[in-house]
Amino acid sequence: MKKIVAAAMLVAIAASAAFAADVVTLKTKMGDVTFNHKKHQDNLKDCKICHGEGTPAKLTLGKDKAHTLCKGCHTEKKQGPTGCKDCHKK
Ligand code: HEC
Ligand code: HEC
Ligand code: HEC
Repeated sequence: MKKIVAAAMLVAIAASAAFAADVVTLKTKMGDVTFNHKKHQDNLKDCKICHGEGTPAKLTLGKDKAHTLCKGCHTEKKQGPTGCKDCHKK
């Protein structure tokens, strides 16, 4: 019985890991950044841009990486927010 429960849980964990939430709120001291994962995924069609090589999984950004990645692309494409308060909302 225990084994069956454990197996069911593993399946549940694996299934949930395959999908990122559509919209995630990244909490920072500067205010919350609302990141529409689904929209970016649909627009960009390339997971590697943000996730690098391999299977996309949980991604921890941190300030410098986030600013280089997020602001960098928005600046380059002239689309998406580049001002502090356009991303960070209190
Ligand atoms: C513009 C950048 C970007 C692109 C493109 C992108 N992701 Fe993500 N993804 C993120 C960020 C940021 C997170 C972390 C969100 C968080 O902290 O909850 C994330 C998280 C995830 C997670 C983990 C969800 C969790 O809660 O553990 C999965 C799985 C994932 N992405 C899959 C994908 C797949 C598949 C693609 C391509 C079709 C993709 N991502 C494209 C930025 C991106
Ligand atoms: C494109 C969106 C975007 C813009 C524009 C932006 N940021 Fe950020 N910022 C982020 C993200 C995303 C994070 C990291 C979130 C994480 O690590 O999960 C972050 C992290 C930070 C942090 C770290 C906070 C903490 O709790 O560790 C500071 C400070 C910060 N930003 C300040 C700024 C300032 C100042 C500006 C304007 C010059 C700015 N940001 C512009 C998206 C943005
Ligand atoms: C490779 C390019 C690229 C990267 C990387 C990228 N973005 Fe964007 N982002 C866009 C584009 C293009 C738009 C405009 C899409 C639209 O308006 O339909 C956009 C729009 C946005 C918007 C405006 C609201 C919305 O959802 O449309 C926010 C907020 C945003 N991005 C946050 C982020 C954050 C936070 C990151 C980093 C985790 C990030 N973006 C990384 C290309 C990118």
